[in-house]
Amino acid sequence: MNKKVQVFAGLEELSAAAAGQFIRLAEASIAERGRFDVALTGGSTPRRMYEYLANARYAEQVAWPSVHIYFGDERCVPPHHPDSNFGMAYEALLRHVPLPSAQIQRMHGEEDPTEAATAYARLLDAQLPKSPRGMPQFDLVLLGLGADGHIASLFPGTEGLAERSRCAVANYVPQLQAWRLSLTLPVIASGRQILLLVSGEPKASIVSKILADNDESPPLPAQMLESAATLEWYLDSAAASTLPGENKR
Ligand code: 6PG
Repeated sequence: MNKKVQVFAGLEELSAAAAGQFIRLAEASIAERGRFDVALTGGSTPRRMYEYLANARYAEQVAWPSVHIYFGDERCVPPHHPDSNFGMAYEALLRHVPLPSAQIQRMHGEEDPTEAATAYARLLDAQLPKSPRGMPQFDLVLLGLGADGHIASLFPGTEGLAERSRCAVANYVPQLQAWRLSLTLPVIASGRQILLLVSGEPKASIVSKILADNDESPPLPAQMLESAATLEWYLDSAAASTLPGENKR
């Protein structure tokens, strides 16, 4: 795996840099293919990045009519529920930019999880180009990192983490006693670029555990991203605070 680790002073600097990377990748994808297919992440870390992208100085640099928004995962709640990843992204970014609503494909957390995941997998299959391995391929997959090493809603020990053929699943998470909708590892790893945003001291130990390449067994979800794409880690100094020096660039 070609991992690149960038450490920024704090969440503000990380978010501004991630917004800049989004703009660069969008420009390159649209120039190359006429569109930019991106899977947004939920959680709290990316909100500030989305707010930067919604700011006119950033938003004017993106050809939004050529951007297609998808989601890496979703909670099983209605779209404007406080826990909804779509709801967070909508308030922070999507409602502020000139994106045709048909180009925003949320996961239907309000529906039966299995039916919603099947429908989402069908939609990705119909709308996205395919990777060399035949998986729907995003130009950019944004991810956050859980303190237990989960990415999207692929939590350690859950069935969804083991899925290798479907591109989206309903995943029961015993740790949360809740169902989640999630992209699977094969489609995440097929992303042409993967950007993992990690902020805050509570993530320092999991970041060290993963980046120090400890051979955890079984490997943590974030360690399972065997990807030909460039996996970029955007950390703030708090999340990177226990990394040995050589990991920081
Ligand atoms: C979600 C996310 C999840 C998140 C991590 C980190 O639905 O919560 O997709 O994978 O990225 O849990 O969350 P924070 O950014 O809030 O720390």
